[in-house]
Amino acid sequence: MTPTIKGVILAGGLGTRLKPLTDITNKHLLPVYDRPMILHPIESMVKAGIKEIMLVTGGNNAGDFLRLLGDGRQYGIRRLQYTYQKGEGGIAEALGLAEDFAEGQRIMVYLGDNLISESLGPYVKTFKRQAQGGMILLKKVGNLSAYGVPKFKGSRIEKIIEKPSCPPSPYAVIGIYFYHPSVFKIIKTLKPSGRGELEITDVNNAYLRRKQMTYGIVQGHWADAGESIDSWFEANLMAQKQRKKS
Ligand code: G1P
Repeated sequence: MTPTIKGVILAGGLGTRLKPLTDITNKHLLPVYDRPMILHPIESMVKAGIKEIMLVTGGNNAGDFLRLLGDGRQYGIRRLQYTYQKGEGGIAEALGLAEDFAEGQRIMVYLGDNLISESLGPYVKTFKRQAQGGMILLKKVGNLSAYGVPKFKGSRIEKIIEKPSCPPSPYAVIGIYFYHPSVFKIIKTLKPSGRGELEITDVNNAYLRRKQMTYGIVQGHWADAGESIDSWFEANLMAQKQRKKS
């Protein structure tokens, strides 16, 4: 039987790096070119065949996601569930809330402010064949200090360093991750980082220590619309180019 992969989209946080745009709304509801940001990851997931999705949100505007997405069918989602993260416990904590939804299946985790131009279908196919652990995606970028950056030993990743002042390679770990259900056990072992959050990079480093982490290198465009006002602006331009091509 082919394994199922369910989708988890993380759309919480205070969006402080996009202030004042985020003073009155959730970052993931801001426009990116012709639609609210959150619809870009949904489109990428649905096109890759992932139609059972959980949206994890938080903060003051959580109800607006329901107004926008409803039951998700308009956007090709077969089953849409919502949950709510209290406080700012980090990406890994937010992911932990999806354990019951995952029902022991593999998951694709998508940070709701990431946009990608290429199809995720081939990665989904690859991960369905992976017997355990996780898979991350890397993209060569210029401004690495805002991201998780892998340190290589030959072609193997030794570890990931979060927001390094001295980046050990030219790649950013993008906000699209694939995990076996073992991820939920790993999350329970994490301790909060210096910024008081459970870090997704600590999850990925746990898999690297177990030698259960693979990676792919993204060739197309990638944008992290939540990193700064400038990167949000670039994401708009990227989405515009993509829309004109399709
Ligand atoms: C998060 C991750 C980081 C990753 C980035 C991609 O950073 O912690 O490793 O490179 O997403 O968007 P954050 O957006 O929380 O600063």
